Amino acid sequence: MGPIKNVFVTRKIVENGLNILHDHQIQFDQYANDNGRNDLEIPKAELFLKAKKADALITMLSDKIDREFLQANSHLKLIANYAVGFNNIDLETCKELGITVTNTPDAVTKPTVEVTVGLILTILRKFPEAHQSVMLENFKGFDPQGFLGTSLYEKTVGIVGMGRIGSEVARILETAFHCKILYTSAKSTSTFGEKVTLNQLLAKSDIVTLHCPLNNETKHLINHQNIGRMKENSFLINTSRGEVIEQSALYEALSNKKIKAAALDVTTPEPLSKAHPLLSLDNVYILPHIGSASIEARLEMAKICALNIIDFNLGTKPRNTVV
Ligand code: DGY
Repeated sequence: MGPIKNVFVTRKIVENGLNILHDHQIQFDQYANDNGRNDLEIPKAELFLKAKKADALITMLSDKIDREFLQANSHLKLIANYAVGFNNIDLETCKELGITVTNTPDAVTKPTVEVTVGLILTILRKFPEAHQSVMLENFKGFDPQGFLGTSLYEKTVGIVGMGRIGSEVARILETAFHCKILYTSAKSTSTFGEKVTLNQLLAKSDIVTLHCPLNNETKHLINHQNIGRMKENSFLINTSRGEVIEQSALYEALSNKKIKAAALDVTTPEPLSKAHPLLSLDNVYILPHIGSASIEARLEMAKICALNIIDFNLGTKPRNTVV
C-alpha cells in the first residue's frame, strides 16, 4: 500500500496539523460550501465525492462513516477521527476493508475533565439561575436565602467508565474535593475509588457522571430502569455521548423530580430542536458539545491527526490506531 498523498479534511480545523502535512509534502483540501463557508457540516453526497479524490480523511465526530460510505470509498488508506470517540465510524467495515482508523485520545482528556468538573459545580451551585437573575436585574443585593446550592465537598460521585477521562475526574474530585469515588469499568481498575456494580453506583451516588464510550453495551445504559435506581436529589452529568442516556427516561425523571438536575455536554441529536421537551425544563443545563473545545486541545488534536498520517507513511503503526 503506497503512501498517503492527499488528505481531505471534512471541516476547517486549526492550521498547525495542516502545516505538518504540508511539511511532509502531503496535499490537503478542507471542506467549504459553494459560498465559501467552512464552518458547516459536510453534506453526505459531498463527502462521498470528496473522499473519492483522497487517500485519507480527517473526520469530525459528526461525520457518519458507515458501511455504505466505506464500501463506496474502499480505496481510503486511513481515517483520522478528530475526536477520542469513534462511534461515528463503522470499525468492523474498516477492518474488513483494511482501512486504518485513528483517534486523538490524550488530547481531549484534560479539556473534557475541565468541562465535567465545571458542569458539576455549575449545577450543584446553581450558576445558571444565579447568572440569569443578575442579567434580568433581579439581584437586589446579598440574600442569605438566595440560590442555595449543594456543596460538592465530600459527596459520593459515581463514575461510569474509568478510562483516561473518568480516572482524571476521579483523581481531581477525590484529592481536591474529598469526594468518595465509586466507579464501574469494563476494563480497568483504578487507584482512586471503589469499583462497584452499576446498580450499587446508581443507588449510592450523589452525582453520577458518564465517561464510557458509546457502543452496543452502553447505548441507553441510563434508561428508565437505571435512572429509577438513582438517589432522589442526585445529579446526572454527561460529557460522553448523548446516546448513553435514553433521553425520554431523563426527561421523565427530571420533570417528575426523581433526580434533582442534569448537566449535559452531549445530547441526541445535536443540536436539540427548539421544541425538544428537555429544553422546557428548569433543572437541566446543556452545553453544545464543547468537551474538547479549548485552543490547546484543538491544536493538539490537529497535530495528532497529522502525526498519525505521517506514522502511516513512515510504515509504522500510527500512534493512535483504533483498528
Ligand atoms: C471526543 O473527542 O470524542 C469529544 O466528544 C469531543 O468533545
